[in-house]
Amino acid sequence: MVKVKQFPKDKGLDHTLDLLNEGYAFIGHRAYRYQTDFFETRLMGKKMICMTGIDGARIFYSPKLFERKGVMPHRVKETLVGKNSIQGLDGAAHKNRKALLMHFTTKEQENKLVKLATKAWEEAIEEWTHKDEIILIVEAEKILCKAACEWVGIPLAEEQVEEVARALGEMIFGFGKLGVEHWKGRISRNKLEAWLTHMVKDVREGKMKVKQDSILYEMSHYIDETGDVLEPQVVAVELLNLLRPIVAVAVYITFMTLALYENPAYKVKLALGDEGDKERFNEEVRRYYPFAPFIGAKVRKNFIWRGYAFRQGTLVLLDLYGTNHDERLWKEPYTFNPERYKKEKKNLYNFMPQGGGKLKGHRCIGEDITMAMMHIALDVLVDKITYELPPQDLSYSLSEMPTLPASGIIMRKIKRKSY
Ligand code: HEM
Repeated sequence: MVKVKQFPKDKGLDHTLDLLNEGYAFIGHRAYRYQTDFFETRLMGKKMICMTGIDGARIFYSPKLFERKGVMPHRVKETLVGKNSIQGLDGAAHKNRKALLMHFTTKEQENKLVKLATKAWEEAIEEWTHKDEIILIVEAEKILCKAACEWVGIPLAEEQVEEVARALGEMIFGFGKLGVEHWKGRISRNKLEAWLTHMVKDVREGKMKVKQDSILYEMSHYIDETGDVLEPQVVAVELLNLLRPIVAVAVYITFMTLALYENPAYKVKLALGDEGDKERFNEEVRRYYPFAPFIGAKVRKNFIWRGYAFRQGTLVLLDLYGTNHDERLWKEPYTFNPERYKKEKKNLYNFMPQGGGKLKGHRCIGEDITMAMMHIALDVLVDKITYELPPQDLSYSLSEMPTLPASGIIMRKIKRKSY
């Protein structure tokens, strides 16, 4: 008989409030306290196994052991991802939806987005040079929203950009918050889904003319494994699964600007133009700064692993932030050091700012696009403009999920570089 071990248990009835207080550090704190990579806790009234580190990541991403159906909490569906989205699919349904979405993240599609985003940055720089100051998070969201909508084929008048960008931003920031911020996220999702659902119906009925090679057209007419087109609401949700995360790159761009401020020597180095340096810098921004905290799944069938019994239906949380800062995987993980990638190698399970595992699993489809959007922004900040950061609150809190430098990064005296 195999002797089954008990998971160390987090004491107390329920730890939802602790999760909201401790945020990104919730799993890490307890893993340290109980000296374990796996422990049991209770969140939102449910038993939950928390896992941190590379071994947990390896099993978490096995579709034979874990599934996603019915896992996403209501509050996250109502803000961040929407109902019936790819994030909650398994098996053949997931495979087909993933193939559909990955059809839009090819190199060719990425290049189209890069052109549009470069144009949007250029227009923004022109405007900024006539302004006293800007708030970078707001501006970057607008730039990325404009480029993403044009890329997808969604017509957006200049005066709509701010409203749509703000709504996408509210969805991103609403999922981990309580009260007003959470409700703003829900209302924005409802509005954007309704707007896009209507658009999909109009495209299907020919009332709205869009190019046949546009993402909007292709997704509206896509036939899934059931032999039918997707429900218009589902198309809207998946269109938002492209638009929202592209706009979310604004968070990394904001942290990138903070990283340049906190590491001025690196700014000088990057200006020398070595592409490898730029790539390492952006990878370190993605690893070091907090964004996606953890990801949930459910045990598919009973299994025993390292003596621990995982029971079918039990919820599990994998610690993305903690694994990106695991000192067994990264040397001095709380030091911002782009040079580390010359020696330390990323793999599918130690570097997970956007999830882990293989692309055919639930790994993010947008890592190349994220890096491409960051690359354009870094070129702007290092090569194309000069600016000043006036005194402001640049601190960010690890208890807020997602988090951001408090000021959103205020920039002044923006000028084009003339050399
Ligand atoms: C700000 C940058 C981004 C972050 C932090 C991020 C983060 C994530 C995370 C944590 C996951 C879940 C992985 C898992 O379930 O194991 C994910 C999945 C996903 N991401 Fe991203 N992402 C980003 C950018 C993008 C971009 C630019 C796109 C598309 C253009 C995108 C599209 C998706 C899609 C469709 C999924 C669902 C994949 C699946 O369930 O199979 N993401 N992302």
